[in-house]
Amino acid sequence: MKIAIIGCGNMGTAYARSFRKYGLTRRDELLLVIRSEGRRDLLDPLGTMSAHIGPEIGACDLVIVAVKPQDFAAISGSLAAVLKPEQVVLSIMAGITLQRLSESLKHRTVVRAMPNAPAQIGMGITAYAAGTELNMRQTLQVEQLLNSTGRAMHLADEALLDPVTALSGSGPAYFFEIVRTMIDSGMRLGLEPHVASALVKQTMLGSYHLMEHADRTPEELIKAVMSKAEPPRPRSRCSPRKM
Ligand SMILES: NC(=O)c1ccc[n+]([C@@H]2O[C@H](COP(=O)([O-])OP(=O)(O)OC[C@H]3O[C@@H](n4cnc5c(N)ncnc54)[C@H](OP(=O)(O)O)[C@@H]3O)[C@@H](O)[C@H]2O)c1
Repeated sequence: MKIAIIGCGNMGTAYARSFRKYGLTRRDELLLVIRSEGRRDLLDPLGTMSAHIGPEIGACDLVIVAVKPQDFAAISGSLAAVLKPEQVVLSIMAGITLQRLSESLKHRTVVRAMPNAPAQIGMGITAYAAGTELNMRQTLQVEQLLNSTGRAMHLADEALLDPVTALSGSGPAYFFEIVRTMIDSGMRLGLEPHVASALVKQTMLGSYHLMEHADRTPEELIKAVMSKAEPPRPRSRCSPRKM
């Protein structure tokens, strides 16, 4: 399958790696459009590179847009000029709607997906919504590609991608913030940084697996960890001693 990835930062590179790792495309079928030269050595084993959006994109089955949302306006005109109607465009840009994609690119077969950072190690979760023009074969192809970076989940209602962005798209940042805060607290209480870090990370890992295996709700698991408060001490009947 011929694939172009426009923007090869964290996510674009993760996609290229996963597609190659699972044999979903060959090196000579993967076109990587880059802006800066810094990642050339890293990207070279994965695909062929281009510094411009050019006509060779028109030969791809799928075009993935993985630039930051604020960079989309700068590329949409040149991309619209080379797209062919039968191609599928998959955007992972946060907040750019199917309607805006379709209008800016003058293209009908568009998919909007929201991955998350663990996609970089093949453990992501991606929710996606497809435009009405996609056929079943194209939708399944997109899902197979997204599955190579972790798990993919189809949403019939595109509007749900906003809560998905809050939950799983941004979720890793909440998680890292909790980890960082706990490690900082441990250090303030006297633990060595490496000890605090090991305690917190293993606690997170173990707690995740417990939740997966324990067949109990998070609420029940919280209760199981909390110690019961001591019963209040009976009030003394004696009057307080005079000092
Ligand atoms: N990171 C996440 O956890 C995450 C989660 C969900 C969704 N997303 C979405 O994924 C997209 C990419 O995020 P990211 O974290 O991978 O960002 P990133 O690391 O900044 O990567 C974006 C890449 O796009 C390149 N680029 C910009 N304009 C270009 C152009 N005209 N031609 C070719 N390449 C161009 C940038 O090049 P330079 O190196 O020159 O800047 C950069 O390498 C974003 O739209 C974001 O909303 C990210």
